This record gives sequence, structure tokens and C-alpha cells, in this order.
Amino acid sequence: MYAPGTIAITEEFMASATQMAYDAAHTGSWWTQVLPVVLGLGGFAVYATYRAFEGAYFMAGPYLSPFYSPLIDVHHHYWPYSPALLILAGPLGFRATCYYYRKAYYRAFFLDPPACGVAERSRNYCGEASFPFILQNVHRYFLYLALIFLAFLWHDAIRGFFFANGFGLGVGTIILLVNFSLLTLYFLSCHSLRHLLGGKLDCFSCAKFGSSRFSTWRGLSSLNERHMLFAWLSLFSVGFADFYVRLVSSGAIRDLRLL
Ligand code: FES
Repeated sequence: MYAPGTIAITEEFMASATQMAYDAAHTGSWWTQVLPVVLGLGGFAVYATYRAFEGAYFMAGPYLSPFYSPLIDVHHHYWPYSPALLILAGPLGFRATCYYYRKAYYRAFFLDPPACGVAERSRNYCGEASFPFILQNVHRYFLYLALIFLAFLWHDAIRGFFFANGFGLGVGTIILLVNFSLLTLYFLSCHSLRHLLGGKLDCFSCAKFGSSRFSTWRGLSSLNERHMLFAWLSLFSVGFADFYVRLVSSGAIRDLRLL
């Protein structure tokens, strides 16, 4: 007997799950999962690369594009190229080694495997047990680095309230605040952070600060369940925030002051 609501792993259940995977693989419907990732991640990569190399239109009034934050050597005393290139490795490394994005781009771009129940493209794939993918294990170090970037983005979001003629609120202020909030949620829902703060413990009551670590871990776990959602929302928000700053900075549109 099974408790109400329990899904019993019976032969029947396994047969139907296998059939569903087989049907998905052979009707071609697995493309519906892969295509949005190719378009979303691919489109973002093209736009972000263009903007990182452009080296212009990254400031508009109190707004700074998140692609250029923190702003280093803006007057090119030491670095003759776009200032975004100096800081690109931090956010790029954090996203590229993210557990969710790894799954997404392995499937979408390497087709290894393209989806559940679909055969792998190459038999030589060794997973993340050998070079170069073993380097993905540095994700936790990018997590520490991401915290520093978040502190700068906090600063930028607050600075968005301070215009040349004093305190105010513009559409850009709201866009930067929303972007910062989504990036914070993406950071807080990270698997490595959850592991670091409690996920690695077998016994909370035996650990130092066990009860506070338990409550933190529980909060992070509920955010972690939505990590994929925050990964996509923050990706679009960071691209949109940069796009908005670029439009205002280039004079294509004017920022609307609400206060
Ligand atoms: Fe995605 Fe850490 S697992 S940011």
C-alpha cells in the first residue's frame, strides 16, 4: 500500500515514462526545449559581445550599464580598449559555470545529449570528469567574485536616484533596480551558495550556528527551486538594462523622469 499522493515506481510507470521519452525523441518534439535556449542564449551572447567591444554609450546621467560595472580606467590611461573587457570574465565565468546553464548549453549547443531519451551525438563525451569541462568546478570561486560585482551593482542602483539636479526617479532608475533585484535572486538561488551555507551538512544540530544555518538553508532552498527562472529573468534584465542605457546615452530616446 502507498500513502495517498505517492507515485509508485512500478513497471507500468517506468514503461510509460520510457514510452514518453521515446515518443519525444522520435516525433522531434525535443526541439521545442532546445530552440528557445539556442535563440535566448545565442542572441544574448551576440548582443553582449557587441556591447562589450563597443566601448561607448554606457553612461547616461546617473545610470551606468551593468555590462560596464564596475567602471575601470574609463579615460584609457592604462587600457586602450573597451572598459567592459576588463571585467567581463567575472559575470561571464559565473554564468558559464552555472549548473543550470551548463545543462542548458550542453543540450542546446553540444547536443550532448539534446534531451532526455535522445541519443548522444558523440560517444567520446567524458562529461565533466576530464579537461576542459572539469574546469567547471571553479563555479564556487566565481560565486565569491559575483558577490563583489553585486556590491557594485547595488551602488549603481542607488546612484540611479541621484541626478545632476538632485534626488529623483526616472524610468532608468526603476530598470536598474529591477535588474539588480533579479541578479540578487539569481545569486541567492545558486546551488553552490545553498551547498556552502547548509547543503553540505548532514546534521544541523551538530554544527556551529546550526539553527540559523538551517533557516538560511531552508530559505535558499526555496529560491533554489526557481533557479532556472531567475537565470533567464536576470539574463534578459541585464541585457535590457544595458540596452536602455545605450538608447538614452546615444540620444535615441529621452529618459522619462517620474519624480
Ligand atoms: Fe547557477 Fe550557481 S548554480 S549561479
